Amino acid sequence: MPALTDTFTLSNGVTIPKIGFGTWQIPDGPETYDSVRTALDAGYRHIDTARAYGNEASVGRAVRDSGIPRDEIFITTKCPAEVKDAAGARNAFERSTAALDLGPVDLYLIHAPWPWNAIGSDHRAGNIEVWKVFEELYEAGSTRSIGVSNFEVDDLESLTAATTVLPHANQIRWFVGNTQPETTAYCHERDILVEGYSPLATGRLLGNQDIAAIAEKYGKSVAQVSIRYLLQKNVLPLPKSTTPSRIVENADVDFELAPEDVAALDALEGGDR
Ligand code: A2P
Repeated sequence: MPALTDTFTLSNGVTIPKIGFGTWQIPDGPETYDSVRTALDAGYRHIDTARAYGNEASVGRAVRDSGIPRDEIFITTKCPAEVKDAAGARNAFERSTAALDLGPVDLYLIHAPWPWNAIGSDHRAGNIEVWKVFEELYEAGSTRSIGVSNFEVDDLESLTAATTVLPHANQIRWFVGNTQPETTAYCHERDILVEGYSPLATGRLLGNQDIAAIAEKYGKSVAQVSIRYLLQKNVLPLPKSTTPSRIVENADVDFELAPEDVAALDALEGGDR
């Protein structure tokens, strides 16, 4: 399916498959291992994990056991949001790469601008310190690209004003009704790829009647329309599922939403609140 093999190109020329398999909230062990194997069998070539998910070892084992050449699979992991100093960042990267055991990673992200127990707190200096380690890891070839997650415009501005390498990607919470227009426009203007996590609002979109009405016209599911919407907005979707049939369904999005349907989905902005 082209949606699985098509790629976005990062500002440094590295290509990244347009749909990634999200593993947030999938427990380590058989659940993660089996879901990642299923996703790879279904043709996914991009897996998104994080140190904080606790499932890197199972992701790595699934990728190795798949027999698919390592260079055909794009692997993202993340430095924990709580880590805001250089030594912590180096240590976190070593632990992630040891757990994954896949060699260099393809994309390494700062998980959030602040620790999860202090959302919104000021860690500008810490993020700069961590980013300088990211730049070293990038220059050394330990990761093929570097980026951030959950960064808003102010966070990006203070980071990029004090550092050299512009983030290649920003992974943010992005779905119909919650499209973060300011951050998205800012990133697109600067060739920072926007990746969308929770493209189904962690499942809450599935009962949405407005999306269901559009989906019916195309003979597609609410999940498929919701994921397709991201692609048409040049945002990389990271759908998560542990159900084999849904893993396949979520990548079967080779159809085109007409402009009036995209506009109808745009009009649902704010519906998540
Ligand atoms: P499950 O993992 O049990 O299959 P998000 O990608 O926004 O985080 O949403 C993930 C949630 O949506 C999970 O609870 C997942 O359930 C569910 N889900 C994923 N894909 C589908 C689908 N195609 N149809 C229905 N539910 C889905």
